[in-house]
Amino acid sequence: MPVDLDNARPLAWDSATLDADTKEMLDNLQPNILRAHVREHLSLLFIRFNDISDGKRFLRTIATRHMKSARKHLEEVRGFAEDRKPGTPYVGLGISKAGYRDLGHSVEDLRRFGDRTFRDGMKRRVAEINDPAVPEWEATYQREIHAVVLIGDASPEPVAKLRGEILKLLPGTARVLGEETGKGMRNPAGDGIEHFGYVDGRSQPLFVADEVDKEPRRHWNPAFPLGNVLVADPFAPNADRHFGSYFVFRKLEQNVRAFKEIEQDLADALGLTGADRDRAGAMLVGRFKDGTPVTSKARAGGGPVANDFTFDADPGDKCPFSGHIRKTNPRFDGIRNVLMARRGQTYGERSDQPWDDAAPGTRPSAGVGLLFMAFNSSLENQFEFTQRDWANNPDFLNPATGHDPVIGQGVRDIKVSFPKAWGKPEMSPPQTQIQQTVTMLGGEYFFMPSLAYLRAL
Ligand code: HEM
Repeated sequence: MPVDLDNARPLAWDSATLDADTKEMLDNLQPNILRAHVREHLSLLFIRFNDISDGKRFLRTIATRHMKSARKHLEEVRGFAEDRKPGTPYVGLGISKAGYRDLGHSVEDLRRFGDRTFRDGMKRRVAEINDPAVPEWEATYQREIHAVVLIGDASPEPVAKLRGEILKLLPGTARVLGEETGKGMRNPAGDGIEHFGYVDGRSQPLFVADEVDKEPRRHWNPAFPLGNVLVADPFAPNADRHFGSYFVFRKLEQNVRAFKEIEQDLADALGLTGADRDRAGAMLVGRFKDGTPVTSKARAGGGPVANDFTFDADPGDKCPFSGHIRKTNPRFDGIRNVLMARRGQTYGERSDQPWDDAAPGTRPSAGVGLLFMAFNSSLENQFEFTQRDWANNPDFLNPATGHDPVIGQGVRDIKVSFPKAWGKPEMSPPQTQIQQTVTMLGGEYFFMPSLAYLRAL
């Protein structure tokens, strides 16, 4: 039975009745696509080859020595849940269009990648999504990157060890163009947060039954078909059974100081007092810092971070249409195929506590941010669509509601209003949109091929 990419029934990956094609798919799929892998400590190596056979040997050796399959990862997750048995580190491998070309695939061959955006590469898409011009990117990303290697685990030691082993495999003809180090941050409740201090990574399309079964789903169904993230690997031995995923990487610097000042200014402008002042930032993000969605209820601490909600009963008087999570997932039928599997990680060291109420002046204004990463079955219809048609579009869903205040790019020239009280129709006078505090420093589009492809190189 061919692998069913369209069925939204969650994948019962360990079922005795699982068909042979799907089993082989899981045995040849990279981990971290269908289910997030632990990557509290993460190292990313951006590599350029200069010799076809050396490049092939390098990738093949990483795949055969160091990479596990999606199925092995799912087994490890279960082993950890049942017996606290620790898993093995994550190694992921992505190849850019330029990388495939330098591994010997012709331009003609590359057309077998259905995604035009991938075939263009990120540098040629700058105008599409209002990215900064390439000469403004960090030097690493201005270069032609061929591959990215991701190494992740719960603690730093295995990552450092594996990084060393992988670097030793690097042939003399290849070069590491740059490197990023991601490190997870958590709030006192133990939830993962980003640098503005908000819980992140909570809302995801889920594919695997173990994960879906744990979620309440009265309002929002978190189960998505495999087709949201998987596509046939065009160069694998068997494209019916060997799948990969398009991977977007973007280094997004966050000016935390400016964002924290903006939260205060907005709270002042709206006349918010006491605990209600937190609503200013919550309306920009769409969730309070502790993850509580601003649309579903006023802030109430405790319990798992809610994700079973929609915006159906919210005409914008609780969560503005521009709120980051409303822009990037408006949560109605018909847009579900846009959702990608986000797998980002924060970068940069800081000595303050991102979740507390310290003065904005004590916050970093540079050097910290998000290594945004996500798996897509179409970069054009998922990542780029989200950035261009939703986040950068001030008229999305309703006219003149403004850019996404967190990630919107482009001139923020129209004025916007906010609800003065939660769930009440009275709106503030129109005010200038908040300044952009997230800056793209570079990135690339990759394809994460099947293990079958990599092993056959
Ligand atoms: C959700 C922050 C970049 C797409 C969230 C959440 C936070 C957040 C705090 C709420 C947690 C959750 O619902 O999982 C940020 C920050 C960014 C950033 C600080 C940059 C520094 C991006 C980018 C995109 C994106 C570049 C895509 C173009 C999403 C999506 C969700 C989300 C799809 C989930 C919405 C939902 O399903 O409810 N982000 N984000 N984010 N973000 Fe971002």
